[in-house]
Amino acid sequence: MDKLRIQGGNQINGTIAISGAKNAALPLMACSILSQHPLHLSNIPDLADITSTIHLLENLGVTCTYANSSSSALPPLRSLCLNAGSLLSSTAPYELVRKMRASILVLGPLLARTGEAVISLPGGCAIGMRPVDLHIKGLEAMGATIYLDNGYIHASAPQGLQGADYTFPIVSVTGTENLLMAATLAKGRTRLLNAACEPEVSDVAHCLQAMGAHIEGIGTNTLTIQGVDALSGATHSIIPDRIETGTYAVAAAITKGRVILTHTQFDFLMSFFSHLKDIGVRVEEIPEGILIDATNATLRGTHITTTHYPGFPTDLQAQVMALLCVSEGTSVITETIFENRFMHVSELIRMGAHIIPQGSTCTIEGVSQLHGAEVMATDLRASVALVLGALCAEGTSTINRIYHLDRGYERLEEKLRACGAVIERIS
Ligand code: UD1
Repeated sequence: MDKLRIQGGNQINGTIAISGAKNAALPLMACSILSQHPLHLSNIPDLADITSTIHLLENLGVTCTYANSSSSALPPLRSLCLNAGSLLSSTAPYELVRKMRASILVLGPLLARTGEAVISLPGGCAIGMRPVDLHIKGLEAMGATIYLDNGYIHASAPQGLQGADYTFPIVSVTGTENLLMAATLAKGRTRLLNAACEPEVSDVAHCLQAMGAHIEGIGTNTLTIQGVDALSGATHSIIPDRIETGTYAVAAAITKGRVILTHTQFDFLMSFFSHLKDIGVRVEEIPEGILIDATNATLRGTHITTTHYPGFPTDLQAQVMALLCVSEGTSVITETIFENRFMHVSELIRMGAHIIPQGSTCTIEGVSQLHGAEVMATDLRASVALVLGALCAEGTSTINRIYHLDRGYERLEEKLRACGAVIERIS
């Protein structure tokens, strides 16, 4: 299993181009199932989760071809054509679904297009229970018959789905995306209330509109979808990855460096940037991108509560915790989205951090210096938090089980090394 070895203490300085958003790319790829015509997606990030989704879609009969290369094995491949002209199967088996929870995103589109879907219950990050009951209840509200058997979700709607009103009892990102995709081909009007309004959900809605779907309320908590008989193909460029953007902003901040983040969008991260400024980091939108400057900064502790967009993203909680470990004074982080998302805490403590977890809250007493250690990556964002800790730590750190990082960060070592990090992958 690959490891990362990081020699800490170097400032992260330079320019980093941000890749396409993983969490938009995955549902956008699932959108291809809804149409007989090709969907062209550009700004596709080169990630293990994208490869897993390609395998899943190919198994269903979707042809996936990278546009700017004849071989799907050679990076960088930025543009993907997905053609679901003739679907072969409505079954997503365990061996393909288990690697990635987002595989559940094929449920709604498959059911809407073919009238049936058999999907293994998903695996993915070990950050909590993460049930899919809301996806199921929403589709049932649209007339689907669904039962669970032997670890599989069996869904059918032989006469097609019916438009319905569905109110999410908890805001769910992929739940909203699944029902949104399904509703585009349902008969009549669907209203999704208390829907997620993350930029990735809006990106999916915009792509579906380009495919001919009728959707109102994009970017709000109420999405109204008027079903159509069929969708066309489309060409769509994936939005930048706001979590990758935030991660590299923390990399600069934690090493007292200065970076310009390009090919990204400032307004996706208003809450995060506002907290970064409170911590003492200079954050500015400039013509080339976003400037993050922590040279000469005195980092100060703060209080953060994760919540839904446009609030502070749970997917940046671990990274900012690493930063608060070396910020003066007492900080408090409260995690409200997932019940088990503090697995990085014990590893940061191994690096010398002072953190007291209690239920959904962590109290962090800033220390002047973290120290290199051998640590274990446990999930995607926890893994990158350890990389960030190691970048500023005194001495060498070894991070084990980094396959999580490859799921969500395109060319992480290369991007950091180009900005001065001493980081190497050991096979
Ligand atoms: C998505 C993101 C993930 C991010 C999360 C929250 C993708 C591929 N992943 O995950 O990176 O951390 O949003 O911003 O986009 N819940 C239920 N029942 C359900 C669905 C969700 O109880 O059927 C609960 C979850 O356990 C969690 C909360 O709702 O506590 C929010 O989860 P959700 O928004 O669905 O997360 P994902 O869509 O899985």
